[in-house]
Amino acid sequence: MALRLVLMGPPGSGKGTQAKILAEREGLAHLSTGDILRGAMASGSELGLKVKEVVEAGQLVSDDVLYGVIEESLKKLGPKMGFILDGFPRNLRQAEFLEAILEKLGIGIDAAVLLDFPEESLIKRLSGRRVCSRCAKEYHIDFLPPKIEGRCDRCGGELYRREDDEPEKIATRLRVYNDVTLQMVDFYRDRSLLIRVDADGSIQDVVQRVLDSIGNRAKEKRL
Ligand code: AP5
Repeated sequence: MALRLVLMGPPGSGKGTQAKILAEREGLAHLSTGDILRGAMASGSELGLKVKEVVEAGQLVSDDVLYGVIEESLKKLGPKMGFILDGFPRNLRQAEFLEAILEKLGIGIDAAVLLDFPEESLIKRLSGRRVCSRCAKEYHIDFLPPKIEGRCDRCGGELYRREDDEPEKIATRLRVYNDVTLQMVDFYRDRSLLIRVDADGSIQDVVQRVLDSIGNRAKEKRL
């Protein structure tokens, strides 16, 4: 059966890292609104120019900008394909929008996984992140370093630090997360879809915890 997940968590909790590994392992599509927006910014498209300032400031882009992108992507995947949504929804309105779109497609999500990560460790994770300017592969200078400093292992591209990974932008993103995004926790708890996973651990340990908690949930549902 196709697995459909929403992945939530504060900036730097490992959503992108986990989503990529889980998608590959489980044969799921990975839809990341952050990646879509950064791709648009890098290409200089109309969408990219529209959102650049807001994304780089660490604020949320307006809902309307993403609704079309998400609806189109989900329709393209079709009702049989499993997916992981990373970074969407990010507020209550987006959660309601997603629910309505999926209902139209005759499907729903299986779980909303919340990656719990201590606030005091986020700065270390985010300030050490590096991204390839050519293929967007992500590294961490301490936890996932490239073989050659400053160069991508995959394509040799130059690594850079994201504009929104500067300390004051991280603080803004965290504030937005606590004030706005966390409101979705109740939304998914009310629907019995919420799963909390401790994301403080090695990348592989967290992957295993996510898989175990989804497996346990599936067993509970069958009982
Ligand atoms: P987005 O890209 O989604 O940013 P975010 O939520 O702030 O999350 P991050 O990408 O910073 O962190 P992550 O949790 O994915 O962690 P990662 O795996 O990279 O969105 C960016 C912006 O786009 C938003 O601020 C907003 O402006 C806009 N946007 C996006 N979606 C939107 C929406 N729905 N509505 C409105 N606006 C939207 O890991 C971080 C680092 O830690 C990496 O270096 C990684 O290698 C390392 N790491 C990860 N896991 C571990 C581990 N277990 N141990 C050690 N290191 C680890």
